[in-house]
Amino acid sequence: MSGTILYLDGVSVAFDGFRAINDLSLVLDRGEMRAIIGPNGAGKTTMMDIVTGKTRPDSGEVFFDGQIDLTRHDEAEIAMMGIGRKFQKPTVFENHTVEDNLLLSLKGQRSIFPALFYRSSAADRRRIDDILGVIRLGARRNEPAAGLSHGQKQWLEIGMLLAQDPKLLLVDEPVAGMTDAETFETARLLKDIAETHSVIVVEHDMHFVRELGVKVTCLHEGSVLSEGTLDFVSSDERVVEVYLGR
Ligand SMILES: Nc1ncnc2c1ncn2[C@@H]1O[C@H](COP(=O)(O)OP(=O)(O)OP(=O)(O)O)[C@@H](O)[C@H]1O
Ligand SMILES: [Mg+2]
Repeated sequence: MSGTILYLDGVSVAFDGFRAINDLSLVLDRGEMRAIIGPNGAGKTTMMDIVTGKTRPDSGEVFFDGQIDLTRHDEAEIAMMGIGRKFQKPTVFENHTVEDNLLLSLKGQRSIFPALFYRSSAADRRRIDDILGVIRLGARRNEPAAGLSHGQKQWLEIGMLLAQDPKLLLVDEPVAGMTDAETFETARLLKDIAETHSVIVVEHDMHFVRELGVKVTCLHEGSVLSEGTLDFVSSDERVVEVYLGR
């Protein structure tokens, strides 16, 4: 398992007897970006809930970064170990500048070590510059986040995740509500991030998924229905029947 950043095997969870996740197995290689598709209620978000410790599976194995058993850790511990999650709705601090939003998210406990603050601030500024470049917001750094478009707020929140230096990023429906241009740019942005991080992206927008150009997993009724290239998955009759042919 040493080459895998995320390993799920035989995972199930039921809510009031309904199996939202049903014997799910999924392996993500270190450094891989994967797109997850599937109909509403397929279990995509619940899968992320399990990985991040928000929901505890009834059965099955969930390992992160080789041999860390995620079922033995809570949400805060899992976040600290390097799994960052982007929820659908952006939750940036509207009244703070773009740059301050990123500074507030930087990993570290500078308030407890004031002496370290000055030593690390040059390095912090470099990191902020890097992140601003990745999220295409360098020119907006001194403006309040409130003035950003919906798409730019999503990018800023992705930047806030990056500031915490995660090994694995989980991104749930990032392009919902974005313009076509923002959607296209988000695919490029995530590809940039995927050069140095492992990423799981859940999305219904097939143009966006095609733009990502990565391996696709289609979930249905809590387990994997089909997996492979987008061309392979989208020509799979079962996928057409339950999802793409709607
Ligand atoms: N905490 C919960 N309590 C009860 N039922 C839940 C809970 N979380 C998820 N479910 C149910 O599990 C099923 C899977 O939901 P989930 O949100 O994972 O689907 P999804 O694939 O993310 O769908 P969508 O594409 O609509 O976001 C749904 O039937 C949902 O109602
Ligand atoms: Mg969902």
